[in-house]
Amino acid sequence: MLALDDVSKVYRVGTFGGKELLAVSHVSFSVEDGEVVALIGESGSGKSTIGKMILGLIPVTSGVIRLDGMDISTLKRDGLKNYYRRVQGVFQDPFSSYNPIFKADRIFHILKDEFFPELKGAEWDRKVRSSMEAVGLNPDQCLGKFPHQLSGGQLQRLLIARALLLDIQFLVADEIISMLDASTRIDVLNLLADLKAKGLSILFITHDLSLGYYISDKAVILYRGHVVERGLTEKIYFNPLHPYTRMLMACVPRLDKKWEAVEVELKAKHSAPTQGCVYYGRCPIAVDKCREAPPLNEIEADHFVACWRADEAVSTVGASGRNDRGVVSTVQCWPGAQGLSCRLPGRRGGTPSSRR
Ligand SMILES: Nc1ncnc2c1ncn2[C@@H]1O[C@H](COP(=O)(O)OP(=O)(O)OP(=O)(O)O)[C@@H](O)[C@H]1O
Ligand code: SF4
Ligand SMILES: [Mg+2]
Repeated sequence: MLALDDVSKVYRVGTFGGKELLAVSHVSFSVEDGEVVALIGESGSGKSTIGKMILGLIPVTSGVIRLDGMDISTLKRDGLKNYYRRVQGVFQDPFSSYNPIFKADRIFHILKDEFFPELKGAEWDRKVRSSMEAVGLNPDQCLGKFPHQLSGGQLQRLLIARALLLDIQFLVADEIISMLDASTRIDVLNLLADLKAKGLSILFITHDLSLGYYISDKAVILYRGHVVERGLTEKIYFNPLHPYTRMLMACVPRLDKKWEAVEVELKAKHSAPTQGCVYYGRCPIAVDKCREAPPLNEIEADHFVACWRADEAVSTVGASGRNDRGVVSTVQCWPGAQGLSCRLPGRRGGTPSSRR
């Protein structure tokens, strides 16, 4: 459905815009109909930049983003309007999306003039109410309230309801639950899972591995604007092959372990990044060959890794998988990172394949 093909983004920075910052580098992946793809990476890795390019908020520097084969950069006026009927975004901080001096449901009225000028009073009210109900909100409790009278979860749901008003097929969800408390988080996550079951495609942007696992069919791991590993979620989480992904996995906190007990190689072995592998500066197992950038190779079916040593990991990781309750995985050691192990959190509804 939506595909990024070799997309890069360079920002101009510095006092007079004289310097360039490569925020996203040659990124390719796709999100099919009714699929959830988790875009995972640390702060500054380029996740939001990708989301903004998909939403047409900033232009791509090179490469193409296509929706059903159509290059979105060529869209003008009506074409663009149609695009936004199908593709919408919701962002991290629900509070900043509202003007505190206006009632929260004003966000719906802004859409009305643009997309539904023909709908009159009662008809429009019915539409707003039904989209609020679709996200589990009680219209009678929420309509007419100011933002400070609603919870973060309710405000985030209102934003999703606004997106649904347009019968969207694709949602860019950029860290939409990071600012919510734990119980509200699970609420909004389950809402996304329900919307996915109804056929919505979602790009779920997060820096939180466990959230990515909970909801996605496919995962894309981003490091400094580069895709270092991508593929089916099960494969990425139960058999991570890139040293960066493995480091991230090892850093997922475990309830049964104090932090001192988690052994993980975080120290850089090499002082500065080079022209070669983007992870060279932090990689504990880098070799001379890594001064050359590795391609993103398909190491096994539906599992791509950009690392010269990924093949070795396949042969040494060997026993990856889950225990008999299906919720915990211990990944075996990489040569040079002995003792590194991680557990993965539980997931609603089993594996992506079993949920289909
Ligand atoms: N408008 C901009 N102008 C210049 N540089 C920018 C701009 N927006 C983002 N950047 C830079 O691009 C890089 C990627 O930023 P981006 O916001 O996409 O990261 P992110 O992965 O979403 O991070 P976070 O998890 O903190 O939200 C960062 O180095 C950031 O400083
Ligand atoms: S290519 Fe080399 S530096 Fe890059 S992740 Fe693999 S081993 Fe490390
Ligand atoms: Mg961001």
